[in-house]
Amino acid sequence: MMIRDYTYRVDGLLLGIETSCDDTGAAVLDETGAILGESLHSQKEVHLRTGGIIPNVAQHLHRENIERVVHEALERSGVEPSQLSAVATTVKPGLALSLGVGLGFSQWFVRQHKKPFIPIHHMEAHALTVRMFHPVAFPFLVLLISGGHSLLAVARGVDDFLLLGHSLDEAPGETLDKVARRLSLIKHPQCSTLSGGQAIELLAKDGDRMKVSFTTPMGQIYDCCFSFAGLRNEVTRTIMKKEAEEGIEQGTLLSCVNDIAAATQHTVAAHLAKRTHRAILFCQANGLLPLSSPTLVLSGGVASNTYIQKALTIITETTGLRLLCPPAKFCTDNGVMIAWNGIERLREGIGILPPNVGVFYEPKAPLGLDMTAAVKAAAIRLPSVRIKIPS
Ligand code: KG4
Ligand code: ZN
Repeated sequence: MMIRDYTYRVDGLLLGIETSCDDTGAAVLDETGAILGESLHSQKEVHLRTGGIIPNVAQHLHRENIERVVHEALERSGVEPSQLSAVATTVKPGLALSLGVGLGFSQWFVRQHKKPFIPIHHMEAHALTVRMFHPVAFPFLVLLISGGHSLLAVARGVDDFLLLGHSLDEAPGETLDKVARRLSLIKHPQCSTLSGGQAIELLAKDGDRMKVSFTTPMGQIYDCCFSFAGLRNEVTRTIMKKEAEEGIEQGTLLSCVNDIAAATQHTVAAHLAKRTHRAILFCQANGLLPLSSPTLVLSGGVASNTYIQKALTIITETTGLRLLCPPAKFCTDNGVMIAWNGIERLREGIGILPPNVGVFYEPKAPLGLDMTAAVKAAAIRLPSVRIKIPS
């Protein structure tokens, strides 16, 4: 919804609030994108111990921390609520119980301080974060890969996206987390505090991916969607076979964890690289990217994986794109990216609401115009590209 007759300042200070998943984040940015103050409470350790995110535990932890986190961000910035130009908060997509906490708090806050409210789409925020650090003009291609999402989209404007592909089942970070859990990596001395994806990346460094072989998903489907559940089943079957061979029970570390980690990471990287390669060819065939400096932006928690970055670099070098990634800290969920999205919307005058307008959260919310059928119909065959990454 766009309210045109509401007056607001386009310069000034933005408070961003994020609670869509398992991070309670807040940040204050000025109109240039300078971070004046931020605070982040991560629930990752709690969820690591319970073997995944339990929504009502996440909700409880957001409730316990939201007020302190927002207060800390404001205090560190030296900004009073009265000085803010607006408040931007994630309202979609995400876990209902988590979104509700951030939205409820924000609505109370904007009414209390009589501030405009800017509802934020979490994936739009991930896609735009790069523009805080690099002067990337629209349009650009973006690959977002995290524990909750995987999508390929063309960003044509602040709130103008073409969706080329998304996951048909689970997200790559979710797959890596589940494989890590099945391998009991939490018991590995080097991995006890790492997320599943981080643990797999670390162990893969000393593994030989050629010792185990997994099938790259969707080889016969010529679109840009992703699927990781089949790969996870294949990895699980291999783990069961190895446990039988080594005569050990589930829950005990296998001697070949490094090789399984390396092969899993490689197959995830190859799948992401192939779908992205097809998305680039689709964009080039349809004039969706500029001829000068066409760009692929990579973001989301899984984007910090250097092996996956290298696989995508092979694709961008082959197709003449440059690859840009926000700094690792800003690839994962935080209040900064939400505040930045608020600034981008404030500059364009898009989606700025008066404090008293009722806003609802949306657990499911696709990003942009769905082009997946057109991509599938184009059925682009890929030239063969070797994803060979020296360890
Ligand atoms: O963006 P994020 O912090 O949270 C959301 O899912 O929205 O991403 C977390 C995900 C987890 O699944 C984690 O295992 C994965 O990102 N991850 C990684 C790496 N670091 C975090 N996956 C692969 N390699 C990494 N280095
Ligand atoms: Zn996220």
